[in-house]
Amino acid sequence: MHALPRFDERFAVSGEMAFLRPLAGRLLAHRRWMRERPFVTLSWSQSIDGSVSVSRSHPYALSCRKTLEMTHRLRALHDALLVGVNTVLSDDPQLTVRHCPGDDPQPVVLDSVLRIPESARLLNHPSHRPIIVTTDRATQAKATRLAALGASVQRVARSADGRVDLDAALDRLGSLGLRSVMVEGGAEVIQSMLAAQLVDYCVVTIAPTLLGGVKALEQPCRTHSEAPLTIVDCRYQAVGADLVAYGPLGAR
Ligand SMILES: NC(=O)c1ccc[n+]([C@@H]2O[C@H](COP(=O)([O-])OP(=O)(O)OC[C@H]3O[C@@H](n4cnc5c(N)ncnc54)[C@H](OP(=O)(O)O)[C@@H]3O)[C@@H](O)[C@H]2O)c1
Repeated sequence: MHALPRFDERFAVSGEMAFLRPLAGRLLAHRRWMRERPFVTLSWSQSIDGSVSVSRSHPYALSCRKTLEMTHRLRALHDALLVGVNTVLSDDPQLTVRHCPGDDPQPVVLDSVLRIPESARLLNHPSHRPIIVTTDRATQAKATRLAALGASVQRVARSADGRVDLDAALDRLGSLGLRSVMVEGGAEVIQSMLAAQLVDYCVVTIAPTLLGGVKALEQPCRTHSEAPLTIVDCRYQAVGADLVAYGPLGAR
């Protein structure tokens, strides 16, 4: 039997992670079609009451060890891994693949005015220059300092609320050759990605915890006259102590 070529190996998921095969297949197909706009997977962990953390300024480890492994397997399937700047401020994440074999995705931060600290661990990423997507509201002085520390600062259009325009951000990531983006949060980014209807696929980890904190979604994603966004043909997988709901996103 011939070994799979390197290109396909990255999308091979087996064993306990075999339930990720439909997503891996979509990511591979999207790459083969050479679509300009990256495929967007939204993945977050929440308590049973829908909280992603206790407070915006503190990280809270919700996933069990097995779902942490799954998250890292998901990271390795994607070209880029995107978070909002508040997550960088509160968690100081590394955004690398550490709990499974695989390559690190390109880290991306949405940061309209360049609030990212110059001491952020991301600026010492072991394999990529982090991309910081910002707007013309950010000062050139901070952009220059971040570039000197190794960041790739990308200015795109801003939306009506002054934040990074998500369409423009995804177009820019596509033009940089990134074919898939895993969005990991936090809550504001989850909300705005869903409201802008830019999500192709969802993987939601539900931990058996009652947290009562920052909710993944605090506003409707659609107007009242529109059908709610739905994980179409949603499947459920028990992973360690958690439950994972997953599938493509559409309207009911
Ligand atoms: N459970 C999980 O899966 C998970 C995952 C990640 C994070 N978290 C938790 O989530 C919390 C942080 O979440 P958060 O809601 O405060 O912040 P966030 O979503 O991490 O970051 C939001 C910030 O990103 C910037 N941004 C730029 N353009 C944006 C756009 N178009 N839409 C949305 N945001 C945009 C905005 O700051 P500017 O206006 O300054 O640009 C905004 O305030 C932390 O407690 C963290 O631990 C949980």
